[in-house]
Amino acid sequence: MKILATIAEAQALPNAKRRVLVPTMGALHKAHGELIRVARQAAGKDGEVAVSIFVNPLQFEPGSDYERYPRPEKADEEFCRNGGVDFLFRPPVEEVYSTGRSTFVEETSLSSRLEGESRPGHFRGVCTVVAKLFNIVAPDAAVFGEKDFQQLAIVRRMVRDLDFNIDIIAVPTVREKDGLACSSRNQYLNPDQRKQAMVLYKALEAAANAGEKSANDIVVLARQVISEAPLARIDYVELVDAQSLQPIEMVGPNSVLLLAVFFGKTRLIDNIRLP
Ligand code: PAF
Repeated sequence: MKILATIAEAQALPNAKRRVLVPTMGALHKAHGELIRVARQAAGKDGEVAVSIFVNPLQFEPGSDYERYPRPEKADEEFCRNGGVDFLFRPPVEEVYSTGRSTFVEETSLSSRLEGESRPGHFRGVCTVVAKLFNIVAPDAAVFGEKDFQQLAIVRRMVRDLDFNIDIIAVPTVREKDGLACSSRNQYLNPDQRKQAMVLYKALEAAANAGEKSANDIVVLARQVISEAPLARIDYVELVDAQSLQPIEMVGPNSVLLLAVFFGKTRLIDNIRLP
């Protein structure tokens, strides 16, 4: 596995038959393992898998966990090596963002609600770095997890609107045994919070399986289940159309229930398709 730290090195890579990128912020866990596995499959025998690890300061709102975000460099390197990754692109911040930069990439519709409302500037940071990674690594395809449902929708929109010739491959959410979606942020949870965090998937499943059609009833039900966990503080629970991410009143053919919930300072997100 080659480890690259500069844009020049990445851009000097010889053209691959098919290059598949897995963009990450590191602290790799089994959900990343699944993204890498899918990337390997999509790249094919003669193709290449590139993983980027970059904790992107632009997508962290002021006062959030940028500084304390885990950066286990050696373990991440080993993880990639064991996953059959060909290139690890791990640039320092100064390499990606030059002083005096004044250009950003911003999606202005899907980004305005849900995570966008709770985390102003977050998706501008995501779009800017993902567009840069696409330009630097020049992949034929890129792999994203469905746990970050809104991010996936926004990246797809950016790819369409800005004519990136890149296939976006979505990978279903990987979960722990009790249903909690795998996330690098789960490690911030103390044992009590971790135990209670399983209510998120319980709430999503209960809402999806109840046979309810009204958004209001579905949201009330999910909120009720979450309230069984005294340490949970709901940010939002919303039923939306999976394409437009606009709220809907009744379950339709393309509905998704999205939630964000705090346990202490740790904010977890998850989602489920309905019906
Ligand atoms: O999902 C993530 O880990 C990040 O938002 C991404 C896509 C790597 C951009 O920094």
